[in-house]
Amino acid sequence: MSNTIDKHYTDPRLVAIYDLDNPWSADTDYYLSLATKNKMNILDLGCGTGILACAFAAKGHFVTGVEPSQQMLEQAKKKQHADKVNWICSLAENFYSNQKFDLIIMTGHVFQVFITDNEIQNILRIMRSHLANEGIVAFESLNPNQKLWEHWKSDTYKTIANGKEVIKSWKEINSIENNKVTFSNVYQFPDTIITSQSTFCFLSYKDLKEKVEQEGFSIVKAHGDWSRTPFTENSKEIILVLEAKG
Ligand SMILES: C[S@@+](CC[C@H](N)C(=O)[O-])C[C@H]1O[C@@H](n2cnc3c(N)ncnc32)[C@H](O)[C@@H]1O
Repeated sequence: MSNTIDKHYTDPRLVAIYDLDNPWSADTDYYLSLATKNKMNILDLGCGTGILACAFAAKGHFVTGVEPSQQMLEQAKKKQHADKVNWICSLAENFYSNQKFDLIIMTGHVFQVFITDNEIQNILRIMRSHLANEGIVAFESLNPNQKLWEHWKSDTYKTIANGKEVIKSWKEINSIENNKVTFSNVYQFPDTIITSQSTFCFLSYKDLKEKVEQEGFSIVKAHGDWSRTPFTENSKEIILVLEAKG
């Protein structure tokens, strides 16, 4: 369910290494490049430790960062330019504002925590109702065709160096039910193992297109990777940029 926060984002030892585990990368550059005008009003739903929210604020945009984990927000507030961001501690599905936004983003596969049709419909409605005229929405979802979870344990294995400590980390599959994959993020510290469980919904491009169109959006761009390669059925990611239907 999307209304509980994974241990990944609340356990103090996991939150402390989040930015080391998820540093600035090609996806962050991609989203930053979507702010093409000056002083845009930007909504970052599930902003985590605020890597993008603070980067947009540094460029002079007006940013609202919505994040349900107080622990993640505490990390965000330590970043440069954090004082310019309007931080809101809330689940994205409970967010309401009377503001409209020129750019609404949901990054780091947060969209996949919405697993029932109702949850997906609801989050798309929230995005649509907060979108300014000529505004855009962008988020990504992993392409189910690639069945990435089949090789997750080896493909996601990495080490994270946190000062003197080296942490080993990987993803492990727990169960698969239709298009819902439940998995564990495992973090092996020198003195303990911390495991956080999540469930992601994997929607096909066809299903995503149908759902976003039902909620009043049209797809402006569909990319398959962070280099802007057009989406194909063999892409790893489904990266969507949406506008309100005319
Ligand atoms: C993988 S992190 C991504 C953080 C950030 N967007 C980024 O790209 O670095 C996922 C974040 O989504 C948040 N999250 C989980 N469920 C959520 C929900 N229902 N609404 C909003 N945020 C949620 C988590 O607390 C976590 O901070």
